Amino acid sequence: AAVCAASVYIVRRRMQSSGKWARVIEILRVLEEDCATPIAKLRQVADAMTVEMHAGLASEGGSKLKMLISYVDNLPSGEEHGFFYALDLGGTNFRVMRVLLGGKEGRVVKQEAKEVSIPPHLMTSGSDELFNFIAEALANFVATEGEDFHLPEGRQRELGFTFSFPVKQTSLSSGTLIKWTKGFSIEDTVGQDVVGELVKAMERVGLDMNVTALVNDTVGTLAGGRYYNPDVVAAVILGTGTNAAYVERAHAIPKWHGLLPKSGEMVINMEWGNFRSSHLPLTEYDHLLDFDSLNPGEQILEKIISGMYLGEILRRVLLKMADEAAFFGDSVPPKLRIPFIIRTPDMSAMHSDTSPDLKVVGSKLKDILEVPTTSLKMRKVVVSLCDIIASRGARLSAAGIYGILKKLGRDTPKDGETQKSVIAMDGGLFEHYTQFSECMESSLKELLGDEASGSVEVIHSNDGSGVGAALLAASHSQYLDDVSE
Ligand code: GLC
Repeated sequence: AAVCAASVYIVRRRMQSSGKWARVIEILRVLEEDCATPIAKLRQVADAMTVEMHAGLASEGGSKLKMLISYVDNLPSGEEHGFFYALDLGGTNFRVMRVLLGGKEGRVVKQEAKEVSIPPHLMTSGSDELFNFIAEALANFVATEGEDFHLPEGRQRELGFTFSFPVKQTSLSSGTLIKWTKGFSIEDTVGQDVVGELVKAMERVGLDMNVTALVNDTVGTLAGGRYYNPDVVAAVILGTGTNAAYVERAHAIPKWHGLLPKSGEMVINMEWGNFRSSHLPLTEYDHLLDFDSLNPGEQILEKIISGMYLGEILRRVLLKMADEAAFFGDSVPPKLRIPFIIRTPDMSAMHSDTSPDLKVVGSKLKDILEVPTTSLKMRKVVVSLCDIIASRGARLSAAGIYGILKKLGRDTPKDGETQKSVIAMDGGLFEHYTQFSECMESSLKELLGDEASGSVEVIHSNDGSGVGAALLAASHSQYLDDVSE
């Protein structure tokens, strides 16, 4: 059933089950079994996802799925124009950008961006330290503004802030942080208005800018995707973390007590990374990874799908093999004991090694773990591990998407209708880990079946979240009345 994990069987067949290898194969076999995602299981996960979606929409705290109201009730139309800034914070890097929007004909006329990596210690220290660093980088970027970006006389610069963590929004441009995820852990930000934190820091560095929109990266990606393609109904991020947002009918959100939006729609940030269910295939490695993490018990789906964790799961399996089956020889390579030393991009590079002698795998193991030599047999085992771990994540992401399509009633073709459903995707895992994204897409096809697959399309919305935030800032600009004159 597992269309994506084919190599495992080859390794197993060729290996003699004696001594050390018998134990290696046993560990491999158990992992494969515990990670198995036959199609029936994926359907159960998808169904559990739709059930939790309903529960999360019904009442605040009704589900592990927060189903956060984004206050975005209108997606970009293409008419947006003007000059806007965007700030994208959500992983190990953040991006600042400015865009010039030219309306229907011009679209994004000009765009400039700068990526800044966040010093790791700022991810776990104090709120002011982090926001000061960001505000400073933003101020430096603003200082490089050229003539092409012209701000009309007497106007304040406006910013769309993409903040990719769970936020309880109080309006389109404000919201309090529910909790940190993905390796961030700064206690004094939790419960604070993150726009307030940013504004205070901007004041401290003397930067005058209005934060016009606060959006999650999934919501930004949805907006950016819809700008170019009117059939976009949902957005999924597969990156350091994982999450999805989609367009819901306002009527179907019992917990929303505000005015019914004119469009009748509301974008929901699911925070699906926090999903968990008895149907999820979890292993001993996942339980320990969770236990050792900054946020035990939380973001369980995220911990088996997303880029922050896949390489770390691989490390844990290899450590067990080294420890219990002398996989790397008599002693355990000391580097293998260092958490997060195998990053998902390394795993992806090993997984996609097509050289007959698995050269890349050999050199990665040498560079990262300082293991001078490895046999072909060992390298094949490593590739199998990558395959098992990545396939599980990819297939579960497909199940999540299928769950959303079910909730929207778009999982089966309607008679006589040619309705298209487009999913805008972004994130490093999706973009750079080919085996992962191909497995995700083929599993989604498998779930949808031949007939429905034709009406569902997955597109890559490159950097959609930054542009999306700028677009939402544009459509909610404080100068909207002047603009439309
Ligand atoms: C984490 C965050 C979520 C974000 C996702 C992708 O799951 O909690 O808000 O959308 O990562 O960046």
